[in-house]
This record gives sequence, structure tokens and C-alpha cells, in this order.
Amino acid sequence: LQWGSSELRDLPWRQTYDPWRVLVSEVMLQQTSVQRVVDKYLAFIEAFPTPRALADAPLGEALSLWQGLGYPRRCRNLRDAAAVIEIDHDGQVPLDLDLLLQLPGVGPYTARAVLTFAYKKDVGVVDVNVARVLSRIHGAPMSARELQDTADELVPQGMSWEWNQVLMDLGARVCTARSPKCDVCPVHKWCVFAEQQKRIAKSKDTPHGHDVIDPARLSSGISRPQPRFEGSDRQVRGRVLRIVLEGEHEFEDLLLRLDMNNDRARVTRLVNLLTAEGLIVRNGNTLRAP
Ligand code: ADE
Repeated sequence: LQWGSSELRDLPWRQTYDPWRVLVSEVMLQQTSVQRVVDKYLAFIEAFPTPRALADAPLGEALSLWQGLGYPRRCRNLRDAAAVIEIDHDGQVPLDLDLLLQLPGVGPYTARAVLTFAYKKDVGVVDVNVARVLSRIHGAPMSARELQDTADELVPQGMSWEWNQVLMDLGARVCTARSPKCDVCPVHKWCVFAEQQKRIAKSKDTPHGHDVIDPARLSSGISRPQPRFEGSDRQVRGRVLRIVLEGEHEFEDLLLRLDMNNDRARVTRLVNLLTAEGLIVRNGNTLRAP
């Protein structure tokens, strides 16, 4: 906590306890890095300051503001969640774990993030950064259950907001995936992994010295390396969505814009998927925003 009092990053969603703003930020942060989220978050919140504003807007408008964040299903889910909040919860983001978990696109991490960052409930949040910190301290891979139980036990009573934000920043800035900075880490004294790293550094030239396996690599919730984006279906889906959100397009026109005339089958398949997911609307050969 002391480390955090000077090192905590100043981020826009850390200047509010508004549960809607917290929910929006945490959904954006699920799969997108902090620096890419900041501006998108500010614009999104300005356009949709309440669940009602988002639920009442056409999905296409929300998707336009989501451009650049990727994984647009999250935006559709967030709008569906806004509608549930509006209809079933009187416009208030629920203050209850089970009710939060029932919202589309809200999993164990996001539900607890809302509980702690908006409602200051004493629960631990386990995102990829926190999972890495805890399993390195522990010195062995941890299951999702072990991580959650440990995170919950560690929260100092009444200080869950600070505690969880600090743990995340420790993971993002010090206990990083590829080059942990154990020498400046405020908790290295209690960390099994840091101790092992130190021993290896000392015995570097001895024939017995070999790298220890990072326990974080095998823990629950640690992301595997992402597949290539360039040329992937995900990239083409993103391009299709961008073009269709600009305005109505005929399928043939879309193929030209994509310069993928020789790959009609692939574009057809991706357009069908986007349509099935409700991210674009098809009427005959005409494609438009939802
Ligand atoms: N990643 C997920 N939630 C975050 C938060 N509240 N602050 C910084 N990074 C995050």
C-alpha cells in the first residue's frame, strides 16, 4: 500500500466510484491494454453516461465508439447488460455478486472489480496481473480457486479499493511477465520466485545453474501467447465491421473495399458470423450497422 501511495497510475476510472463507469472500464480492460483504453473510455462514457443511454442507443453507434478496442462482442454484451440493468435493476448496477454474474459479458473478474472499485466491498480481484503476482509469491502454479481464495484473504479490511488497484499496478509495472524487476519490488522478501531468481543470478556460471520455471506461466487465467493478428480472421472481421459501420454496403462493394475478391468464401463466412452475432445486419445483399 505504501508503494502504491506514490506509484499508483492516474487513470480516469480511478477518479470515480460510479458503478456504471467502473463496469464500462473493466469490460474494456478485459482484453485491451490500459493505454489503448483511456481515450476510448472517455469518449464512450461521454456518449453513454448511464446504462439507459447505452440501452436506448442503436448498437451501431456504440460499436463505432468501440472501434480500435477489438473483440466487439464485448460491446454488444455491455449494451445487453445495460438493458438488463435498466429493466430488472431499476437502472442501478447491482451490488450483488450473483446478480452481477448474470449480466451478459460479466465473469468472476469483472463482477468482483465492480464490487471492489465501485462499492468498496472487501473482495479480491484476480486478473492476469494479479494471478502472476500471487503465484510467483507462492512459488508454484495456482488454480483459479486457490488464486481467488488467496486474493480474498489478503484484502486489508476496508481498503479493498486501494489494495486491488495497487496489486494490479504492481503486476503491470514491476512483476511483469517477461522482465520482473525483483530488485525494486516492495514484496520481494516474501516472494519464492524472487528468491529463486536471486539464487540463479549468483550461480550463473556454475554448471548446476539452470533457469527455474516461472510459476505464473502455469497458473489459471494467465493468457497464452496470442495468435498472429496480421492476416487473421479476427483482422478481416475488424475490417468488415469498420466498413459496414461507415454506412450501408453491398456485398460486392465490400469485397472490392477489402480487396478480397479472390477470397469470397472467406468473406462470406465472416459476414455470416458477424450477422449471426448481431454485429451487422443483412438484408438480401445489403449490409448495414445494427
Ligand atoms: N486492468 C483491469 N482493471 C484495471 C484497473 N482498474 N486499473 C488498471 N488496469 C486494469
